[in-house]
Amino acid sequence: MSKVTIVGAGNVGATCANVLAHEDICNEVVLIDIQGNMAKGKALDTWQQAPVDGYSTRVIGGDDYALTANSDIVIITAGIPRKPGMSRDDLISTNAKIVVSVTENILKYSRNPIIIVVSNPLDVMTYACWKASGLSDKRVFGMAGVLDTARYRAFLAEEIGCSPKDIQAILMGGHGDTMVPLPRYTTVSGIPVTELVKKDALEAIIQRTKVGGGELVNLMGTSAWYAPGAAAAQMAISILKNENRIYPCCVRLNGQYKLKDIFVGAPVQLGKKGIQKIIKLRLRKDEMALLHQSASAVTEVMDVFNKMKLV
Ligand code: NAI
Ligand code: 2OP
Repeated sequence: MSKVTIVGAGNVGATCANVLAHEDICNEVVLIDIQGNMAKGKALDTWQQAPVDGYSTRVIGGDDYALTANSDIVIITAGIPRKPGMSRDDLISTNAKIVVSVTENILKYSRNPIIIVVSNPLDVMTYACWKASGLSDKRVFGMAGVLDTARYRAFLAEEIGCSPKDIQAILMGGHGDTMVPLPRYTTVSGIPVTELVKKDALEAIIQRTKVGGGELVNLMGTSAWYAPGAAAAQMAISILKNENRIYPCCVRLNGQYKLKDIFVGAPVQLGKKGIQKIIKLRLRKDEMALLHQSASAVTEVMDVFNKMKLV
């Protein structure tokens, strides 16, 4: 049994805590926020849901990092979300400072946690956290691909008229409009998606997936939280149960896919040590070109972060 801390008790963090509590696999879930009473209140509310829904996970919250001592996993969702008209990259100046300071605070109380970053711009915030932490790159990674493939899978299920549970898919690259959905690696209960969805419809779904975050920002005036919170929790569950599930995660590539020292989305196995393995797909030339184009977009934002000289 284990302890998970979530820093940032806003929409995504509180949802993630609630999903994790329902799984009943951690002794304790801790919600931390600079708005300490809000974190305490959301934690208390989730704890009071336990008798109704039947779980034992203790959920506590506040602004004191001492509460986070000896966490096995830390999920960082602290930072500002985007508003209509903003890209994820527009968030960097505010969120980089937040992510670096949160990482430093976490490490005062937990020696060697696994950290899952959710704050945007995701790929660069994961890089920032890894740099600030000094932890192994097997223990610091980001959540984006689980969410982006979930959107892709939901759209495909709607088109086919089947259960979203039957769609398996992988997606690579940065968490931005340059992300790379891979129809060649998309199946519907083992059936290649191209046998069930016409080319034009598939292309339209790929385009909708790439701007899936923006679609929700335009509808709600802020970014999504149910699917993002659940997606981050799903990654933590694979680690806590040592399931070795294969998910697209934002990881440090160091030579794989001919990319070096950059955090972008790639398929990995997630288990008790964090990233157990980065899976190397045999990408075609056109797929590789799209991945490198996406990596270049991430590099531009990484440069902005490096110029900030926070770490
Ligand atoms: P939110 O505004 O609801 O919550 C953010 C929380 O962070 C607030 O409660 C705020 O008080 C807290 N916070 C700010 N500075 C802090 C600090 N220094 N220490 C502790 N807490 C601090 O935002 P929401 O919707 O929960 O989004 C959070 C982040 O996650 C945003 O950056 C958003 O863009 C990102 N996001 C990423 C996704 C992904 O796929 N990677 C998906 C959805 C959101
Ligand atoms: C999302 O994709 C904004 O990254 C956030 O919903």
